[in-house]
Amino acid sequence: MYILGIESSCDETAVAVIEREEHDRVIAEKIKSQIPLHAKYGGVVPEIASRNHYEVIDYLTAAVLKEAGITIDDIRAIALTLGPGLMGSLLVGLSFAKGLAFANNLPLVAVDHVLAHIESAFIDHPGIQYPLVALVVSGGHTTLFYQKSKFQTEVIAKTRDDAVGEILDKVAKFYGLGYPGGPILDKLYKGGDPHRYSFTIPKMSDGSDDFSFSGYKTAAIRHPAGKDADPGGQDFKDLIASFLNSVVDYLLTRTQSAVENTKPRSVIVAGGVSSNSLLREKFTQAFTGSTTNLYLSSPRYCTDNAAMTAWLGYEKYRSFPNINYFDRYLNSYSRASFRDRGPKPGR
Ligand code: KG4
Ligand code: ZN
Repeated sequence: MYILGIESSCDETAVAVIEREEHDRVIAEKIKSQIPLHAKYGGVVPEIASRNHYEVIDYLTAAVLKEAGITIDDIRAIALTLGPGLMGSLLVGLSFAKGLAFANNLPLVAVDHVLAHIESAFIDHPGIQYPLVALVVSGGHTTLFYQKSKFQTEVIAKTRDDAVGEILDKVAKFYGLGYPGGPILDKLYKGGDPHRYSFTIPKMSDGSDDFSFSGYKTAAIRHPAGKDADPGGQDFKDLIASFLNSVVDYLLTRTQSAVENTKPRSVIVAGGVSSNSLLREKFTQAFTGSTTNLYLSSPRYCTDNAAMTAWLGYEKYRSFPNINYFDRYLNSYSRASFRDRGPKPGR
């Protein structure tokens, strides 16, 4: 069966057609990145983002269907990112998907963007076993989840301030390195000594497992080694390498303690920041020989894409065939809201 996925939560308009059941594969996908539009502002400008989604979503969908060699009549369900994300951007995707679903009498499956990041690991690793711990690290989120099964999700810890991708972007912006900062720092750190400078690992005063990244950001931008901000200078490269190394160690030790506490069969790391080469190297090293299997989302599915939306949409559609609803609940991120949550019956 063919599922159409639509993602427009931030600054990528993405559309994909996947085939599930007979074959499990991504048939066609297109991502229109808005990075060049936002780069000069050093971050995403919401109004520019939603206008650009509005301009491209229609032809992008037509182009993906054409590339897949099918028409809308061959699609069984439409999966859509309902949230979280930028409201204007989400609304463009939602309005478009609703219209398409209504006009073609297709079920509309609303998908949570962060859970879709977790699902992205399944595209290339279909054998992942539950229960699992998932670390989602992106520009908007840093959350550790425990999933007993695909639709039983609990939040173990989440950031109380900035997301990890956000601090990488902000530090790169502060030093005038460009946007988005994550991939730039990923290249820069390679020439530096990761042990030259030390950073304090954040600890919550209330004893909570939650993350905090804003202190890292401040420490990196106020660091004496950043004074000249010369990307070619050794001190600066050492600063970036030490900063990134400490951030990755923080994510790793917290993931390891979640694994110790919950004893899952698998660990997933997903989201834009999971394409970071140091993170991939350190996590791979740490879980080699462990009884818990590590699955890193494939690099092409780490950052925002619609294949992961469609993949999770299919799973919901298959598990709850009557699904066709607008579930407000999906937008809520409190721990309680994730517990024991299952889709509600269709209207
Ligand atoms: O998942 P994503 O595309 O969007 C959100 O849902 O937020 O993640 C974007 C984030 C940005 O902060 C970007 O700097 C970061 O992912 N990123 C990276 C790398 N590639 C993208 N961070 C570190 N290393 C990378 N190679
Ligand atoms: Zn994302």
